[in-house]
Amino acid sequence: MLKIKMPTAGTPYVLSDILRAKIGLIQSRRVISQFEDVLKEYFGANNLRLVNSGTTANFIIYKVLKELRKREEQVEIILPAYTAPSLLLPIEAEALMPVLVDIDPATFNLDITKVAEKFNSKTLAVMPVHMFGLPCEVESLLELTRDTDIFILEDGASALGTTVNGQHIGTRAPFGFYSLNRGKNVSTLAGGIITWKDSGLSGLFDKYISELTSLSAYSQFSMFLKVVALSLAVRPLTYTLLNPIVAKFKYTTLHTHFDSFQYTTMQAALGINLWNRIEYLDQKRVENGLYLLEIFKGRDGFRIPVIPDGSRVVFNQFPIVVDDLEKRAAIVEKLRQSGIETTTLYDHPLHHIFPKLHKTGADPYPNATYLAEHLLLLPPHAQINHRIIKEIQKVIDTIG
Ligand SMILES: Cc1ncc(COP(=O)(O)O)c(C=O)c1O
Repeated sequence: MLKIKMPTAGTPYVLSDILRAKIGLIQSRRVISQFEDVLKEYFGANNLRLVNSGTTANFIIYKVLKELRKREEQVEIILPAYTAPSLLLPIEAEALMPVLVDIDPATFNLDITKVAEKFNSKTLAVMPVHMFGLPCEVESLLELTRDTDIFILEDGASALGTTVNGQHIGTRAPFGFYSLNRGKNVSTLAGGIITWKDSGLSGLFDKYISELTSLSAYSQFSMFLKVVALSLAVRPLTYTLLNPIVAKFKYTTLHTHFDSFQYTTMQAALGINLWNRIEYLDQKRVENGLYLLEIFKGRDGFRIPVIPDGSRVVFNQFPIVVDDLEKRAAIVEKLRQSGIETTTLYDHPLHHIFPKLHKTGADPYPNATYLAEHLLLLPPHAQINHRIIKEIQKVIDTIG
């Protein structure tokens, strides 16, 4: 009998999403401003623009920071040693330098107590990354840099929707960005959102965004076909049937290059339609994450992240650290047999992937290394229901 598989990620599209995306192909660019307005209201942000990816959003923020910096020698970007390797691409493209800080094993995010020791006259910015949907502490970083010329930019790529005391992550620092890529909390196939606090900088952001090329009608149409394919690929039945093909489109290699172009009207029309049910999509991730948290709370051999007070976590993936790697492999296999796919994401921290970030000697970021090697990510997305959560619990009760 065919065993139905549940994908690890994916925004479930409905027919009206596809129809709206199709209409978007022939709409004017005004629809992009309309989607930006929807997003401004959702985030409570005054200044916001869309581009083709989170990477481009990050890249444009660096361009602006370089214009704002006091000294040419400010080239260092402080970021966690365990995060998406692709974050190094815009740093490199702008001739900046990554400076790593270990992660905090309790929060799975940047260890903010170790940030200040990296400050020097070359520091340009600190980038707290909200991994897996979990909010990284930002207020104390803002406090730490208050009377300095160091900028804070938040990477909310994997945490769109998460709030702390009612405020969206990505909007507390002067700069922030999100991703609308496949696998992120909400996806318009691809996409990036830039937010900034100072309206006086809008002209600068507009300049850099307007310099990006627009996709041809042909490329937009082929993107639309990908949206149709994605709508099938994220549904359990079609995902199962299409699995041999879908598997080829999963990211398996490191990105070495990124393209920058303007967001498309097709994606904006899709996004506007998706945002009609954003509360539902967010809430499912919040609830599923909390159910998963209960399964692992207090269980020996597993570590779950500390959830900061006052936060509402829109989990992108539910992260656990499994000390015993054989046990982790057994869980992955048992869940796979039950049709539930998991991921271990990046198996290595940045300083192992890019050896120039690690001079010889003892591991400078041991917590990041441990997290990379022992992480297991469970899916909390909107298609995960009670039956699947119960199935996960059964597997953990048997093995754990
Ligand atoms: C933490 C983080 N930041 C940034 C990005 C880049 O976003 P995009 O894929 O939209 O370029 C990603 C993507 O995986 C990510 O996980």
